[in-house]
Amino acid sequence: MSIFRKYPSTRLRRLRKNLNLIELVSETNLTSKDLIQPIFIKENFEGKEQIESMPNIFRFGLNHVLSEIEELINVGINAIAVFPVIESSKKDEKGLEALNKSNFIVQSINKIKKEFPELILIADVALDPYTDHGHDGILINNEVANDETVEVLIEQSILLAEAGADIIAPSDMMDGRIGLIRDSLEKQNFKDTILLSYAAKYNSKFYGPFRDAVNSASNLGNSSKSSYQMNISNKNEALHEVALDINEGADIVMVKPAMPYLDVIQSIKKEFKVPTFAYQVSGEFSMLKNAINHGWLDKEVMLESLVSIKRAGADAILSYAAKEISKEINKV
Ligand code: PBG
Repeated sequence: MSIFRKYPSTRLRRLRKNLNLIELVSETNLTSKDLIQPIFIKENFEGKEQIESMPNIFRFGLNHVLSEIEELINVGINAIAVFPVIESSKKDEKGLEALNKSNFIVQSINKIKKEFPELILIADVALDPYTDHGHDGILINNEVANDETVEVLIEQSILLAEAGADIIAPSDMMDGRIGLIRDSLEKQNFKDTILLSYAAKYNSKFYGPFRDAVNSASNLGNSSKSSYQMNISNKNEALHEVALDINEGADIVMVKPAMPYLDVIQSIKKEFKVPTFAYQVSGEFSMLKNAINHGWLDKEVMLESLVSIKRAGADAILSYAAKEISKEINKV
């Protein structure tokens, strides 16, 4: 029997009578402190250039990115995730440039953290910005080799921690990498470096515009990441991945993409009760933004999509719309 009394003693519309009442009983509250802005920084480049498949999202030169970050901070964003766009002449089969101690992302992190020490900076760990085949790891006999890749990811992680990244985010989906990276960070005295694991990263077609943004799409061609990213059909496997990563030393776990995987976010949060992030990826952003720009959807759908991700259980969200939504929420 229901504990609720029936109509007319119960009228749910009483609490929807005006905006103040609606907000008073709102269960999910999205703030700019929940939002993380991904930023593309392009090597050997000045100014900013539009990414064609991502409306109003740009590749920034290193000098220009500082003023963009200042704007982000002014609208209330406290965290960014940086992605390098590397000169194609520096890409090779092994992604060696990833381990160059003064490579572009190291220089970028140094510069950004020097200018904005309080800003939380997240750096991606994976080899795809540096490989000429566009895969996240090293190819041996035409397959992405797990253990050999992890060896490189460990070094890449140390380099990024050294450069000043607050959070290291392995997005490669190799087995065992969280534990080995954690061990290595501890040994080298990076005890407070936070590990954000892309734990449940699906083999999704929603990453298309990102691959355009970092120029890895043409390198990857028809090749697929299905031997390391997760099957879109699986949820139990996501719980398994997350359990392993927490055990190996992840501080935060992430689900990616976000809106097509709300059930996964919810299950992970319910099961493990650890900090759980979601990545509203490039394709999710572009699809909504294009429909908005055509006038086919109201611009409020962007906020609605982010609220749905938070309502599912995400503590924070990486979103290309972070800046504009933050402006809207904070009315700045
Ligand atoms: C690379 C990486 C990808 C994204 C974040 N890190 C692309 C991929 O796995 O192919 C996708 C982000 C997005 O689509 O916005 N390891």
